[in-house]
Amino acid sequence: MTEQNERVVVVTGGSRGIGRAICLSFARPGTSIYFNYFSPSDPDAEAVAAAETEKRVADKQGFAASKSVNIVNEDEVSNFFNGIIDKTGRIDVLVNNAGITKDGLLVRMKEQDWDAVLNVNLKGVFTCTKIVAKLMMQQRSGCIINISSVVGVTGNVGQANYSASKAGVIGLTKTAAKELASRGITVNAIAPGFIETDMTAAMSDKARNAMLDQIPLKRAGYPEDVASVAAFLASEGASYITGQVVHVSGGMYI
Ligand code: NAI
Repeated sequence: MTEQNERVVVVTGGSRGIGRAICLSFARPGTSIYFNYFSPSDPDAEAVAAAETEKRVADKQGFAASKSVNIVNEDEVSNFFNGIIDKTGRIDVLVNNAGITKDGLLVRMKEQDWDAVLNVNLKGVFTCTKIVAKLMMQQRSGCIINISSVVGVTGNVGQANYSASKAGVIGLTKTAAKELASRGITVNAIAPGFIETDMTAAMSDKARNAMLDQIPLKRAGYPEDVASVAAFLASEGASYITGQVVHVSGGMYI
């Protein structure tokens, strides 16, 4: 069993980018952070990145442990959470952050690219939330934060699958907030805009400049801009906020 004052945080996709920054924003003595990651194309690099996140959390005197777990695989996900629950007996915060893109114009989009993105970005959030919500209901406390996207609200050319998945996350967030509120559980979404990570590094200069033109604050965001909002939503100061979508986009959507 966990020590009474230990705070247990689970982050999906914590090996790099926004997920890593979220892990670091929670890192402090007395907090245990468990995160997963998954990369079919380069599992070794992903494991190295995950070890780096663990190290940086440890540098801040926190504790982190990670595992390669594909959130599309329900058995793997349930083993992952059962392992955490066996060890700690509780989960205080779940951040559903893992996500992928497979862009293409709607009329050319392959069914497998549609399915892959919806499975990771939306069904993965459902699977993790369902498992953790049951535990949080018994605890009568908890905080769930889902990472959506500004394009889940605005749509975006070439991202029919991604924007649909992120719009779905917003609907799921609002429903879960209503269903779980009476048990003392808050559920909110963050909608980041254009954030500097591996996900956006692959963009051409042209696409990048077009994106920057749409940002009133005239800069790309950093993972830390998103992470600080996640830390706030999980804090005592945000205990009266639920079912909301917080845009962290430099004003891309106003
Ligand atoms: P990233 O590509 O740098 O990192 C993605 C993380 O998700 C990695 O840790 C990866 O291992 C994990 N992951 C991917 N597929 C997985 C699977 N099937 N099972 C378990 N883990 C998996 O991405 P980034 O940019 O840090 O994005 C994080 C979240 O923020 C995503 O949900 C993304 O859609 C969202 N977002 C990102 C924006 C950006 O501009 N970077 C803008 C809006 C939203």
